[in-house]
Amino acid sequence: SKGERETEKKKHKTNKNMEGALTARDRVGIQDFVLLDETTEAAFLSNLKKRFSKDLIYTYIGTLLVSVNPYKELDIYNKKQMDIYMGVNFFELPPHIYALADNAYHTMLTEFNNHFILISGESGAGKTEASKKILQYYAVSCPSTTLLNTVRDKMLMSNPVLEAFGNAKTLKNDNSSRFGKYMDIQFDGQGDAVGGHILNYLLEKSRVVHQNHGERNFHIFYQLVEGGSDDLLHQLGLERGCQHYNYLTQGQCAIVQSINDKNDWKTVKNALQIINFDETATNHLFEVIASVLHLGNVRFDSDSKGHALLNNNTELHWVSNLLGVDAHRLQEGLTFRKIEAKKDQVLSPFTTDHAIYARDALAKAIYGQTFTWLVNRINESMENKDPSRKTVIGLLDIYGFEVFYVNSFEQFCINYCNEKLQQLFIELTLKSEQEEYEAEGIEWEPVQFFNNKIICDLIEEKHRGIISLLDEECLRPGDATDLTFLERLEEKMGNHPHFVTHKLADKMTRKTLERGDFRLLHYAGEVTYCVLMCQSKNDIVKECFSSMDPDSRRRPETVVTQFKSSLQKLTEILMAKEAWYIRCLKSNESKQSGQFDEALIRHQVKYLGLMEHLRVRRAGFAYRRKYDVFLKRYKPLCPATWPHWRGVAADGVEVLVQHLGYLPDEYKMGRTKIFIRHPRTLFATEDAYEKCKHELGERNTKATGQRENTENRKKLIESCWRGTQARKEKEKRAWAVKVIKKFIKGYMTRGQAKNTDNSEYLAFVRQNYLNRLRDNLPKTVLDKTTWLTPPAVLTETSEMLRKLHYRLMVRKYVRGITPQKKAQFQMKLITSSIFKGKKDSYPQSVAHPFADSRISEEDINPRVIQMIRNERIKYCVPVIKYDRNGFKPRQRQLILTQTAVYVIEEAKIKQRVLYTSLKGISVSNLTDSTIVFHITREEPKQKGDLVVQCDHLFELLTKLCVIANKQNAIKVVQGSINFEIQAGKGGAVDFSTGPEPMVYKAKNGHLMVVSWALSLLSHVSVQTGYHFFFSDYI
Ligand SMILES: Nc1ncnc2c1ncn2[C@@H]1O[C@H](COP(=O)(O)OP(=O)(O)OP(=O)(O)O)[C@@H](O)[C@H]1O
Ligand SMILES: [Mg+2]
Repeated sequence: SKGERETEKKKHKTNKNMEGALTARDRVGIQDFVLLDETTEAAFLSNLKKRFSKDLIYTYIGTLLVSVNPYKELDIYNKKQMDIYMGVNFFELPPHIYALADNAYHTMLTEFNNHFILISGESGAGKTEASKKILQYYAVSCPSTTLLNTVRDKMLMSNPVLEAFGNAKTLKNDNSSRFGKYMDIQFDGQGDAVGGHILNYLLEKSRVVHQNHGERNFHIFYQLVEGGSDDLLHQLGLERGCQHYNYLTQGQCAIVQSINDKNDWKTVKNALQIINFDETATNHLFEVIASVLHLGNVRFDSDSKGHALLNNNTELHWVSNLLGVDAHRLQEGLTFRKIEAKKDQVLSPFTTDHAIYARDALAKAIYGQTFTWLVNRINESMENKDPSRKTVIGLLDIYGFEVFYVNSFEQFCINYCNEKLQQLFIELTLKSEQEEYEAEGIEWEPVQFFNNKIICDLIEEKHRGIISLLDEECLRPGDATDLTFLERLEEKMGNHPHFVTHKLADKMTRKTLERGDFRLLHYAGEVTYCVLMCQSKNDIVKECFSSMDPDSRRRPETVVTQFKSSLQKLTEILMAKEAWYIRCLKSNESKQSGQFDEALIRHQVKYLGLMEHLRVRRAGFAYRRKYDVFLKRYKPLCPATWPHWRGVAADGVEVLVQHLGYLPDEYKMGRTKIFIRHPRTLFATEDAYEKCKHELGERNTKATGQRENTENRKKLIESCWRGTQARKEKEKRAWAVKVIKKFIKGYMTRGQAKNTDNSEYLAFVRQNYLNRLRDNLPKTVLDKTTWLTPPAVLTETSEMLRKLHYRLMVRKYVRGITPQKKAQFQMKLITSSIFKGKKDSYPQSVAHPFADSRISEEDINPRVIQMIRNERIKYCVPVIKYDRNGFKPRQRQLILTQTAVYVIEEAKIKQRVLYTSLKGISVSNLTDSTIVFHITREEPKQKGDLVVQCDHLFELLTKLCVIANKQNAIKVVQGSINFEIQAGKGGAVDFSTGPEPMVYKAKNGHLMVVSWALSLLSHVSVQTGYHFFFSDYI
């Protein structure tokens, strides 16, 4: 279909651009941002800066041209340059505005469709210059005849005239366009420029009566009073010199170095002739201009009531003369308000303020109408009346986003316009991208970008948008004020995410907003508008109530609605055309050449949505090309495709990229094209191709004979490809050698303080250690051995980390333990405090949990239970009791109650020791399990001390400590323990170690207890440590 064909061609165009960019890559930065490897703002700016420093002011984003104002004359706009770009495959050349102009022109000719070039950017960024460059290019490059020459001249000459009436010196630009301009250039089938048409938008009329400090009125006024002949000035009642006129001196800079009003006057006069202004028309034009100057000098006196008076004013007579209106009526109009009450007319006098206001309103209206008239006249002179079909290229030179400290109604319109244009761009670009993916059968990967439709709707939606509300408020009977308008806005837009006012804002934002402000979050950034713009409602909005036909009862349109509909029309005009974009950037605020103000440019890159544009352009695949084109270029890189591929191009490409080792994710095969995701893939291919081409060329000249030639080539290709690979390998190795050397040096100096030799090494060591540590952390708190030994630089860190890690594990552990376990640990802690480091068998005992009891109640004789039922049984354990005489071992049960220790034999209580009479407990320091209970004897017949052996020594004694609070009574003794057999008769237990544990009565009458030496216990596998950990960390 035609649509497909068009997209096809459009893409082809993009690819050609890239080809050029590829060839010239790296010369100075990258010529096409699409081929930047990184789409960051930093990379973008750095590329722009690099190019700007070499006076390369143009760079592409696909087919979009980015232009940076150089503020100096560059020798790139001469006839020679034009010839270079003309009709040639410009894509092999560096980016240029001529390339874009030529490309648009040739696409128009081949496709016979309409195009437009949207030029946007801040004030002073170079939009108007760009549009002039394009016009000049067409003037020179299009075919010409004498007849056509006049059309061409008219188009060229319309510029100085429109600039004289529509441009002015501002703080930002000495030749700032104060109106938006859209110009169609019409071409016939042969590509001859045969006509033109201009649409103008929103002339800044307020400038006629007021200029800020450092700014001027429209150029034409100064040109007239400085350059006009004496005769002319006399005729118009003017004096030479701007200083005589109120409307020319408010900015206090009537004379400017960079502007030569006298010369410009001549140019304008000449231009007027060329665009068919006869003398009468020219005279009328100047009469109007002069009348405005006179109006500006009209002064009002005031009577006793403060009413404005205007008596026999000479200035007024000049106005009346020049405009051909009755002086009396003029005077009346300036000093009285006319109120129509039923059929009568009542005149109500103005105050002087009102009168001044009426005077200024009149001046602006006169100038505004004249400007429109002028545009119409120019259009008439450029019009082509031939009915044959023509195609057009439109040039749109429109203000970019404007943000001032105080943003009024005009900024609102300007920014709204940009919002619309961005919307247009999104729609056109995404549409064509999507169409292409669809046509190629490749899945569309959604792009992340901000769609500003929501903001356009906020502004222009019928009945709901800001413009509708403004209209309603203006036309509503009653006292509409700025603030009632703001309230209406708040009411209707209250929760819109892109609308904020002082009242709606959160605390932080509120600080940045005045009460009379509202803020729109435009796609390019936030702009705060002052509703006092409705004061300019006085200026502009109200002015529009004076609808063309005074008798008409039709509801008049407000300026903003007019603007909205003219934008709507413009959008329609543009939507039907193929879009080209030029984004102009201002390099610095001070109009200096060679200065690249990064902050300023970053700001513009943002406001022009360039990154967004790049993102949309790079959606998914940065590069795509038709199979045959791709194959044709790169076929020398694969033996199977060189010199000819006999099959289908797509298959050839597949073979080729397989051979080159493209990864599956790096490319996609469409119906007619290969899509390559990253520029680097393409660059690698291009590099190989460059080398190969070079060598092919060289050797080719030496080769003779057709067959030999082919054979040679085959070998050559292979060797080229291998050569490329080998060179890459070599580079890699060289890199590796460097790294290794650095590493060795770092190793040798690792002990020194950080310096250039070892800093990287140390960083590596650190990282490496931390990584390894992460993977090898001890899993339990008991594990004291796996902590990796740190390198010297990390000793301290490692120690801190170790502590932290253990603490963490402890915390986890502690949080996870049950109350029972906790009680258990508390007991173990007591055990530890008594025995740790004192008794040899202690460490082995640690891991064995304590039991509540070692004998269940069923195994205790009921009679015993009966006997001691008043004292609660706390713990029971089997023991061997040694007789005091003869030390015969006897199996007994030992029961701890709340008050006493009982020695039980079957049903008999053999001994009862009250805790109160238990004066001490002794154990040895060795691994045996003998315990001696020392007892206080109040009565002589009471039994002597108790000697037992208990396998659960630690458990028993700990329980005893807890129940009877006997912690301090326990002694760990070395050598032997003395005890009392009975009153007055002593005995002793001696302890030693030996190969086999035994207990016997020694010859000296002592009880001899032999136990294993500690070393022999080591075969018993026991965990040690959790005690340490508690004492260490709790
Ligand atoms: N390509 C260029 N080469 C040299 N100088 C340039 C170029 N473009 C712009 N300039 C300089 O910058 C000045 C401002 O450019 P221009 O009038 O085109 O800005 P603009 O974007 O149209 O601004 P405005 O929005 O105020 O109309 C020019 O007068 C000229 O001095
Ligand atoms: Mg301009």
